[in-house]
Amino acid sequence: MKTEYVERPDLSTEEGLREIARAGEIIRRGGLVVFPTETVFGLGGNALDAEAAGKIYSAKGRPSDNPLIIHIADPADASKYCETNELFGRLARAFMPGPLTVVLPAKPIVPKTVTANLPTVAVRCPSHPVAHALIVAAGVPIAAPSANLSGSPSPTTFRHVREDLDGRVDMILGGECEIGVESTIVRIDGQNELTLLRPGGITPEQLGEFARVSLSPAVLDKLKEGERVQSPGMKYKHYAPKTPLYLLRGDGEERMRFLAEQTGKFGVLAYTGDVDVIRALDTAPVVFDLGDENDPAQPLHRLFYLLREADKAGCERIYAPLPGTDGLSLALYNRMIRAAAYQIISL
Ligand code: TXA
Ligand code: MG
Repeated sequence: MKTEYVERPDLSTEEGLREIARAGEIIRRGGLVVFPTETVFGLGGNALDAEAAGKIYSAKGRPSDNPLIIHIADPADASKYCETNELFGRLARAFMPGPLTVVLPAKPIVPKTVTANLPTVAVRCPSHPVAHALIVAAGVPIAAPSANLSGSPSPTTFRHVREDLDGRVDMILGGECEIGVESTIVRIDGQNELTLLRPGGITPEQLGEFARVSLSPAVLDKLKEGERVQSPGMKYKHYAPKTPLYLLRGDGEERMRFLAEQTGKFGVLAYTGDVDVIRALDTAPVVFDLGDENDPAQPLHRLFYLLREADKAGCERIYAPLPGTDGLSLALYNRMIRAAAYQIISL
């Protein structure tokens, strides 16, 4: 199919509003539109149309047992699609619109293709103005996974989306993704219990103000053989660059010594403070700047972008520092261990 593009939709102009109206029309009549959110780009279709949901899986090449998130324009709409409770209301007031997805028992109106036959459904209210305007224009909730081909890192720029989905969707809207990794997903287990299924821009510490938070085992570790998965997406090898990635556990000095001993063409994801020193090493690695080590929002914002760029640099392998697991770093850690297929080198 021929894909239409709007690289910079401008909601302050008549033309921009016309383009969004057109994108909404495409969704309403069963087509697919890629749109920016504050986390990553989404590949959207009408969430109440089983056939449109089916198209999303095939455009991405996604296994049909991995359910989709329903995007809504107003948290109050959640109760149309799932059984909400008081805790949902408190989370919605604190974090919505924003990068938080909640999993609750699904209502029958939600097609089984969207939930992949699970009794629950994931709901999120994005804060990105283009995402919001699109949902309003469509007049229906939008089912949207990340807009990557299954298995590659989620796209965070117009160019990366285009590389994956050109010719596979009706329209692509561009924009900025402020956070750079997908939303935090929690399952609401009662009035005071949350299970963190996927870390993101809302941290467990922030959620802990509202309920007891337990971490799904797949957040920090590889699932054990035969272990039951709480969020189907967790079982797939994810976010993986084609070039093998290894995470280095050790301090800055140990990393430097290790990198100075490598041979061949290799890449390094490095914090800004280390970039110049690593570039000057005799082993001449290709260096990618992760941003400030003391501000995890920066490496989080750049990670998926850099993994895709590093893949194009023709390296035999890539090294990156293993992040911590506090606060926002947990999301970085979770994505990096998956991208590295759990290969950690202790220095
Ligand atoms: O930030 C985001 O959440 C982005 C943007 C586009 O909104 N979307 C996104 O969708 O990351 P996706 O499909 O790539 O990831 C959704 C995750 C999957 O791992 C899926 O298994 C999980 O949500 N999920 C969806 N419904 C679920 C459910 N009912 N129970 C447990 N996990 C669920
Ligand atoms: Mg995804």
